Parts: sequence; C-alpha cells; structure tokens
Amino acid sequence: MKFFIDTAEINEIRELADTGMVDGVTTNPSLVAKSGRDFKEVIAEICSIVEGPVSAEVAAIETEAMISEGRALAGIAKNVAVKVPLTWDGLRACRTLSSEGTMVNVTLCFSANQALLAAKAGATFISPFIGRLDDIGLIGMELIEEIRIVFDNYDALKTEILAASIRSPAHVKEAAMAGADVSTIPPAVLKSLAQHPLTDKGLTAFLSDWKKTGQTIV
Ligand code: G3P
Repeated sequence: MKFFIDTAEINEIRELADTGMVDGVTTNPSLVAKSGRDFKEVIAEICSIVEGPVSAEVAAIETEAMISEGRALAGIAKNVAVKVPLTWDGLRACRTLSSEGTMVNVTLCFSANQALLAAKAGATFISPFIGRLDDIGLIGMELIEEIRIVFDNYDALKTEILAASIRSPAHVKEAAMAGADVSTIPPAVLKSLAQHPLTDKGLTAFLSDWKKTGQTIV
C-alpha cells in the first residue's frame, strides 16, 4: 500500500519524506488555509520535495472553471494530481483533464456508486473519506471494502482507491487489509505507526544486556 501524507505543512512533509516511506502528498483547501501559505507556491515546494503525486484541489464548482483551474494547477509541476469534488461538474472536469494526461484525484467520496462514476470518468485516484463516515455513526471502512469489490469485478476500472480521512493507526491497518491502493495519512498518525511499548521495552532490555558484555561492534 502506498503512503501519502495528508498535510500542506512543509516541515512535516520534509521530515517524513526523509524516511523514504512517503509516496505522495494530498492537500485540500482546509489544509492549505491552515498552512497560511500561498497555494501555488506551497504546492510547487511540496512537488520539489516529494516525487510522487501531490494533490492540489480546485476551488471552482462549475465544469469549465474547474478545467481551467485544473490546467493551471497541473502546470505547476508534472507530479501534480488535480483534485476535484465528486459532483457531476467534477466528473465532467475529471473526464477532460484525465483525457489530457493529467492525474485526477476525485475527492469527497462517500459511496461505492460515486466511486464507480469517478472510475468511469477516468480518475487516477478516488478518495473515500473513512473518518467522516465514522463521525456520523457509520462504518467508513465498509466503503473501502465495497469499492474494492466493485473495482476488482472490472479490469477496465484502473482507478486507485486512496483511503482518506484517516484518523488512527487502526484505519491504516484496516485500509491495507481491505485492499486500498493508497492511504493518505496525517503526519502524527504516520509517525505513530512505528511505535509500540513492547518494542521500546525489548530494545531497552537488549541494550542493557549488550552493555554487560563489555563488547563493541565497531
Ligand atoms: O484530505 C482529505 C481527507 O483526508 C480529509 O480528512 O480528517 O478532514 O476528514 P479529514
């Protein structure tokens, strides 16, 4: 499963990209606003740090304006993936942009039927929002499972499932078990994936016992 980072914070991206574990980045208007940065400048800087797909979302809601904005965003760097919302206008814009060779990430997906439409529109990625379904008392992971089943039924559907609205390490594990192609993970959640108290306890014991040998390796 590919790991994307879900943030527009440059320092977080740089720190995690240095681990070699980062395959891409997703942003959205809320994350860009939180960064306090100029949108196109921060996307360009992110694209210079991470070679993989970097999602940058349009702000328009009508097809032609979405296409115009999408072309401008795609022009920032070759690894920009244009994000469009899952509306009929967004699907039409996805169809045009993808036919021009632009990567498109169709976002704000909350049903398997929406995902099927995005795949038929040529989306590179579909972003089902797990956490926001959990927030209203549903089981967001079931959507990932449903979309995986639908896409696997048809060889023609090449769209990658990009599990989004990830809120915990459990979401990452369950998305991988469900067969998501990508998880876009908040930096804090990504950092926590390596942590386990028994690892810490075991390492402490190993180091203590090694020290008793009085030996060095180099
Ligand atoms: O960036 C898309 C998605 O990951 C947003 O997550 O936590 O705002 O629902 P969240």
